[in-house]
Amino acid sequence: MAIERTLSIVKPSAVKDNHIGGILAKLEAAGLRIIAAKMLRLTPTQAGNFYDVHRARPFFQELVDFMTSGPILVQALEGENAIAKNRDVMGATDPAKAAPGTIRAEFGNNISENAVHGSDAADTATAEIAFFFATSELCSR
Ligand code: CDP
Ligand code: MG
Repeated sequence: MAIERTLSIVKPSAVKDNHIGGILAKLEAAGLRIIAAKMLRLTPTQAGNFYDVHRARPFFQELVDFMTSGPILVQALEGENAIAKNRDVMGATDPAKAAPGTIRAEFGNNISENAVHGSDAADTATAEIAFFFATSELCSR
C-alpha cells in the first residue's frame, strides 16, 4: 500500500448540526491525518464546477442548492491507502444503507444531506485537493 492524499468535505448539514468534531474524530481514528483544513461557503458556480461530473443528473440542482446552503469544512487527508480508507469510514452514499459506525450512518440525514464528501479515485483526489488548496497549504506529516 502507498501513502495517498484525498479530499474530504464536511457538508453544510453536518456543520450546522455541530458534527465537525465527531466526523474528524472518526477520520483520525481510522489513521487518516488532516494535512490541511478550512471553512468556507461555496458559491453556486463553485459547487457546480466541483460536482461537474453530476451536471446531467436529476439531483444536480438540489445538490448545488444544498452544498451552497451554508459553510462547509474542507480537509485534505493523508495516510496509507487514504482514498479507499476514507470511503470506508464514510459509508454508503445513502445513510440508510451505510454500515453501522460509519460517518454517514451516524451523521447523515438522507441521500442528499449525507454529511461528507470523499474523493473516489487517485485522479479525482488530486484534482479535488487542487480545487481547494495550494500545494503550499498542504502540511504533509
Ligand atoms: O458522495 P458519493 O461519491 O458517495 O456519491 P455520488 O454518487 O458521487 O453523488 C454525489 C452526491 O450527490 C452525494 O454524496 C449526494 O449528496 C448527492 N446525491 C443525491 O442527492 N441524490 C442521489 N440520488 C445521489 C447523490
Ligand atoms: Mg462521488
